[in-house]
Amino acid sequence: MSQRKTVDDLFIHMLSDIYSAEKQLTRALAKLSRAASDPALSDAFKTHLEETHGQVQRIDQVVETCNIRLKRMKCVAMEGLIEEGQELIDEIEKGPVLDAGLVAAAQKVEHYEIAAYGSLCAIGKQLGFTEAVKLLKETLDEEKATDLKLTQFAENAGNQKAKQQQ
Ligand SMILES: [Fe+2]
Ligand SMILES: [Fe+2]
Repeated sequence: MSQRKTVDDLFIHMLSDIYSAEKQLTRALAKLSRAASDPALSDAFKTHLEETHGQVQRIDQVVETCNIRLKRMKCVAMEGLIEEGQELIDEIEKGPVLDAGLVAAAQKVEHYEIAAYGSLCAIGKQLGFTEAVKLLKETLDEEKATDLKLTQFAENAGNQKAKQQQ
């Protein structure tokens, strides 16, 4: 049987999962930034890398304010998403087509994070973790803003250049 018997256990499990995801992303975003040829896209990844460091610290604050302990675990979903991004880097030469692929891969990551933080906010609210929910909502907003920025890349620069290359 699962050890997740209570809502508190579920909250801790989900927080531990996204903590692992964010840690993995600090390495992956640096790679994405290096792989992007559009300087604006490369900068966007760099900016989100900095935000991600802050998001890891925010989870530490959540742990403190909720007086809980994280479990050591690996977010296998994020591991898979990052692997897919790496495959693109390995298979496509640097340029607009790879950029379009990187945007798509990064958006999958953001959508995973948005789902995770959205659920954490809902469950945290249920548990009465008011301060934690405030912190988690700040991260959720950053993920949403990043996703929006990536959508703009997908709709403008990335896809346009990919088309020109055909
Ligand atoms: Fe994040
Ligand atoms: Fe993110």
